[in-house]
Amino acid sequence: MKYLLVAGARPNFMKIAPIHRAFSSRRNEHTPAELLLVHTGQHYSRNMSADFFRDLGIPEPDVNLEVGSGSHAEQTARIMMAFEPACLEHRPDWVIVVGDVNSTVACALTAKKLGIRVAHVEAGLRSRDMSMPEEINRLCTDAISDLLFTTDIVAVENLRKGGVADEKIHFVGNTMIDTLRQQIGRARELALPDGLARGEYAVLTLHRPANVDSPDNLAPIMRAINEIANRIPIVFPVHPRTAPRLTELELHPQIRTVEPMSYLPFLGSVARSRMVLTDSGGIQEETTVLGIPCLTMRPNTERPITCEIGTNVLVGTDPQRIVQEANSILDGHARPGTIPEKWDGHAAERIVDILLNQPVQAPCLVCA
Ligand code: UD1
Repeated sequence: MKYLLVAGARPNFMKIAPIHRAFSSRRNEHTPAELLLVHTGQHYSRNMSADFFRDLGIPEPDVNLEVGSGSHAEQTARIMMAFEPACLEHRPDWVIVVGDVNSTVACALTAKKLGIRVAHVEAGLRSRDMSMPEEINRLCTDAISDLLFTTDIVAVENLRKGGVADEKIHFVGNTMIDTLRQQIGRARELALPDGLARGEYAVLTLHRPANVDSPDNLAPIMRAINEIANRIPIVFPVHPRTAPRLTELELHPQIRTVEPMSYLPFLGSVARSRMVLTDSGGIQEETTVLGIPCLTMRPNTERPITCEIGTNVLVGTDPQRIVQEANSILDGHARPGTIPEKWDGHAAERIVDILLNQPVQAPCLVCA
C-alpha cells in the first residue's frame, strides 16, 4: 500500500515527524508499504518551515506543492489544484492529513473526491466557534475521513455525537506530544535567550486573526501584556501575521520581541518559563505536559481537556482578567495539572499500526 503524508503549516510539522519515523521503523515488517511526504508550502519562510524539518529530523519532502500565501479561498484552491495531479501521479491508497489548517481540509477533499481513503490525525477537536477558520477545516475534514485518530476522550465523544461510526474512530493519543517527549532533552540543553534565568520570564505568542488582525482587539491585549511586563520579562516570538500590526503599538521595555523561533529553542524556552500567555492551539497541550501554567487568550478552546485536568486557564481577551490571572500565577497560585491519557509518546506507533493493518480495497477512482 502507498500512503501520502501531508504537512503544510508550522503546527503540522511536529505532528507528522513521529508518524514518519514510526512508519520507517515499522515498514520493514510490512515491506510493500510506501510513505511519501507532501509539503503544500502553506508555510514557506525558513523560520516557519525548513528550520522545523531540520530540528525534527524530517527528510526533504518527496512532493513540494509550493502554494504560498493567499486568501483562504485562494490558498485552499491552490493546494487542491496542485495536490490533485500529485495524487494522480502517485496513486496512493491513503492520504494522511493532520491538524486543522487549510492544507488539511484541501488535501482531504481532493483525495476523497478521487476515491482515495483519508486518515485524519487529531480528529474530533471542536471549539464550536464557526468564526475560526480552523473549526470549519476540522468539521469538513472529519465529515469525509475514513479513519479518525483522536488525541483525547472529549474528541471521541464529539465525533460520536456528530454521527461518526465507532469503527472509524481510534483514540491513539497525541503525536505532537510524541515529538515533545522525543525532543525535550535536547531543548532543555539549549541556552536561554540572553539575560533570562529559568523560571523568571514568561513566553507570549499571538497570531489568531480574531486577536491580531484588528487594532481594536490587539491594543487591549497588549495593554494587559504591558502591565504584566512590569512584574516579569516576556519573550515574544512574533508570528508573521502579527508583526505588521505591532508597529503601531508601544511595548514595555521588558517585552522582548524576537523572530519566530524554531522548534527546539521555543520548546526549551517554554519548558523553563514561569508561565505562557498564548492564543495558539497546540501550546495549550505542550504546557500541560510540561507542567507550565498557561493562560489562553481566547473565548473558547477546542482542547478543553487542558483546562479540565491540565495547566491551562481560558482567560478570554478582557485585559483585566488577563492581568488578574497572570498576577495570581506570579503570586504563587498556579494550578497544578495532570497529563491526559495516552499522551505517552507512542501515539504515532499506534496510528501506523492501525494504518498498516487496513485492508487493501477495491480499485478507487484513481486506479479505475
Ligand atoms: C495558519 C493556520 C493556523 C495555525 C497557524 C500557525 C490556517 C487556516 N491557519 O495560520 O491554524 O495556527 O498557521 O502558524 O491554516 N506567512 C509568512 N511566512 C510563512 C507563512 C505565512 O510570512 O511561512 C505570512 C503570510 O504571508 C500571511 C500570514 O503569515 O500574511 C498568515 O499566514 P497563513 O498561513 O495564511 O495563516 P496563519 O495565520 O499562519
